[in-house]
Amino acid sequence: MPENIDISPPQRHEPERQYFYIAKLKELVKAETEKLGRPLRAAIITFGCQMNARDSEKLAGILIAAGFAMTEDENADFVLYNTCTVRDHANQRVYGRLGKLNHYKKKNPRMKIALCGCMMQEDTVIHKIKASYPFVDLIFGTHNIFKFAELLARMLITDETVIDIWQETDQIVEDLPTERKYPFKSGINIMFGCNNFCTYCIVPYVRGRERSRPAEDIINEVKRLAADGVVEIMLLGQNVNSYGLTDSVNFPALLREIEKIDGIKRIRFMTSHPKDLSADLIQVMKDSKKICRHIHLPLQSGSTRILAAMNRGYTKADYLGLITRIRQAMPDIAITTDIIVGFPGETAADVDETIDVVEKVKFDNAFTFLYSKRTGTPAAILPDQVPAAQAKQSFDRLLKAVQETARLGNGRLVGEACPVLVEEINAQDPAMLDGRLANNTMVHFPGNADLIGRIVDVKLTQACGFYYRGQIGQDSVSYND
Ligand code: 5AD
Ligand code: SF4
Repeated sequence: MPENIDISPPQRHEPERQYFYIAKLKELVKAETEKLGRPLRAAIITFGCQMNARDSEKLAGILIAAGFAMTEDENADFVLYNTCTVRDHANQRVYGRLGKLNHYKKKNPRMKIALCGCMMQEDTVIHKIKASYPFVDLIFGTHNIFKFAELLARMLITDETVIDIWQETDQIVEDLPTERKYPFKSGINIMFGCNNFCTYCIVPYVRGRERSRPAEDIINEVKRLAADGVVEIMLLGQNVNSYGLTDSVNFPALLREIEKIDGIKRIRFMTSHPKDLSADLIQVMKDSKKICRHIHLPLQSGSTRILAAMNRGYTKADYLGLITRIRQAMPDIAITTDIIVGFPGETAADVDETIDVVEKVKFDNAFTFLYSKRTGTPAAILPDQVPAAQAKQSFDRLLKAVQETARLGNGRLVGEACPVLVEEINAQDPAMLDGRLANNTMVHFPGNADLIGRIVDVKLTQACGFYYRGQIGQDSVSYND
């Protein structure tokens, strides 16, 4: 890399400061591209949740603005892992893959390796990387992700390892380039962080305190996306139900405003915390023509005793009551959930309680997780950590109940023609398309790629487990012409 590039401090305000560094990066990447006689290739590998997926779109936006060619191949000139640390399994995957990257780097000494995301907010992780993976060139965390251009420029210019982790921030920096994975749908952050401190969960420690974006900024972003062809949006936050800077702009009020924006056909949101889901939200969903008939409502446990130990703020009866109220308002709504098994102190009787909720609610789908001990969380030091064999047995019992009850609901729409947002060509069969119903169920049907991004009526002909097969009707309507 050229050494004579001026990186004296530019304007102090964000995001202008980052645009200064993007311009610097462009010069660097251009010079290197000319030297090599080929584009510099960059890959981003995303672990974890929808928030990370959205962050990766922002990181890709910077790399593309800087002149990198994006690839999915990890044998690239610049590889960035956007990590997750919600369960230990995700951490182990990162360490495993880093070994492989080192192998590529030995063959291509120009290669640079970067790590960011939730895992980097843990001191133990940083120590381990410094000690065992010294070939990593750049590390940053969740709070300063907006400084990616600056940190990357510093790493390339100094050719030294750059590590920059912030413990917290109250900054929300907007209006940097982003590269959407899909042209027709987009996630939108409405809040960052979490204040709930569920006792098993590391998120409040690595994502910091709750910060809501001003409603005006969110609405302007949705309008820009709609003008750019986006028809479906997913409002993102760890706990969207507690969105709101003032009582007048709480989550239901925000949804009412977004509903008015022309061009947006489908509104989704994730994740809802049962303790904050208001009657007003149920009413807004019921009245809405655009909010999808799907809610993801993590249960975590069906045992009131375990829920208290988890600090969830509701009982089994509260949860069941909430489901009844949601279904009374919207009988056709799909309900999905997250459940943890093996939380410290959990007995077979507690698992029975969870299975009882699964059988009563009949979730459309449930993501079941084995409890993973996260250092620094209150649950990590509880007595009665559940032995692995017992947890696995409970897990299998729960999974069976989830599959059996979900099967009951499968196929209830067979014979109906339903609007489907066409998302992509099927990976196995290029003559088929994949799309989603408003309730988030996947549909496979024959069709041409020019339908991608459109909402079309598909007659659902066959239920296959968690997805449908279908056929576009002769008279199918495209809702977004
Ligand atoms: N162990 C297992 N699962 C966890 N989750 C969060 N923390 C843990 C943990 N320590 C699960 C919860 C949450 C989902 C995103 O991950 O079910 O809803
Ligand atoms: Fe973790 Fe609970 Fe916050 Fe969800 S609500 S991110 S489970 S602390």
